[in-house]
Amino acid sequence: MAEAGHHGPPPGLHLYTRDGFVGQMAVAIRPHTVFEYTSVTGPHAPSRVALDRVECEDATDARALPTVFARTRNDVVLSVSRRGAPMPYAFRNTECDELHFVQEGTFEYVTDFGVLTAGPGDFVAIGRTVTYRVTPSPDNTESLRFVVETPEQLNLNPPAPFGMVNFGRDVKRPVVSPGGEDGETEIWVKSFDGVTVFVAPHDPLLCNAVVDGLAPVWQLNLAAIAPLTYATGGPPGQFAQTPTTDLMLYTLSSRPPAARPPQHHNADYDELIFYVRGPGAYGAVKDPATLAWVPKGVAHWGPLEHVPEGYLAWLLESRGTLRLAPAGLAAAEPMETGQFGLHDGAAGPGRE
Ligand SMILES: [Fe+2]
Repeated sequence: MAEAGHHGPPPGLHLYTRDGFVGQMAVAIRPHTVFEYTSVTGPHAPSRVALDRVECEDATDARALPTVFARTRNDVVLSVSRRGAPMPYAFRNTECDELHFVQEGTFEYVTDFGVLTAGPGDFVAIGRTVTYRVTPSPDNTESLRFVVETPEQLNLNPPAPFGMVNFGRDVKRPVVSPGGEDGETEIWVKSFDGVTVFVAPHDPLLCNAVVDGLAPVWQLNLAAIAPLTYATGGPPGQFAQTPTTDLMLYTLSSRPPAARPPQHHNADYDELIFYVRGPGAYGAVKDPATLAWVPKGVAHWGPLEHVPEGYLAWLLESRGTLRLAPAGLAAAEPMETGQFGLHDGAAGPGRE
């Protein structure tokens, strides 16, 4: 039994879970593994997306917005940005909270409530209707960020006020730096049906002080989030979520113990694993900026999470079923659901 504990559950173990990992569950032992497939036809097919291969309009056009690569049925939008030049406008999203993840490069975020500087591995959360402007560092050799938009409020809520996230040390709020040049400013206000452009006589981002309340903007590095682990193996725990738990966010970075998870059947969530970087590989995933998407209700095994070299990855669980947009499909390939390698033989999602 000690052997089994060390190496993980037997191959036929099949775990069904509701509400991510915190609801009803049932476990079956089957005579065979059930994660494999030899072919798949239809839209609900596991895929790997090379997010660094998504063609981004903002790489060459400073006025362009990030490029949408996927959407969910609950109006969550996922985009990639390769912005090389400062935003020539102030931006405000009236429909969604935004969560930015910096894959490569360093960026200054000037917001309504002060300034943040975000680098590789940083999450930056921006509350709905907060105005901001992003300026890439002139020293950047690469610029790659992912943006999650949710119509709900995204809140940090680890299982306890300390342990997973050290709020005092690692959660950063913007810092006000008074002064700065004023001037006529374009304000782009994004709504469900497009962008409305205001021209204002002053820069709305200039700020003397924040005198009360808490800035609805925070920054936290993925590497600073402690993976939740049980000595006997078990599910990860989320560090952020929306009120209805439409979205839940986890670090899925390398973690002990050495047990491989059981085959899984996630009843309520699509699983989106963003592999950030090694040196260690996550199963067959070793290229930075790879997204592994397992649609809900599709059996998968999942690689060993404990590798000695370590790696950084995060998991976005979405109740709304995900579909890739054309820009995502162009960078997607069919994925097998054991080690999340490329599937040879299966047609990709949405392909004719
Ligand atoms: Fe899973």
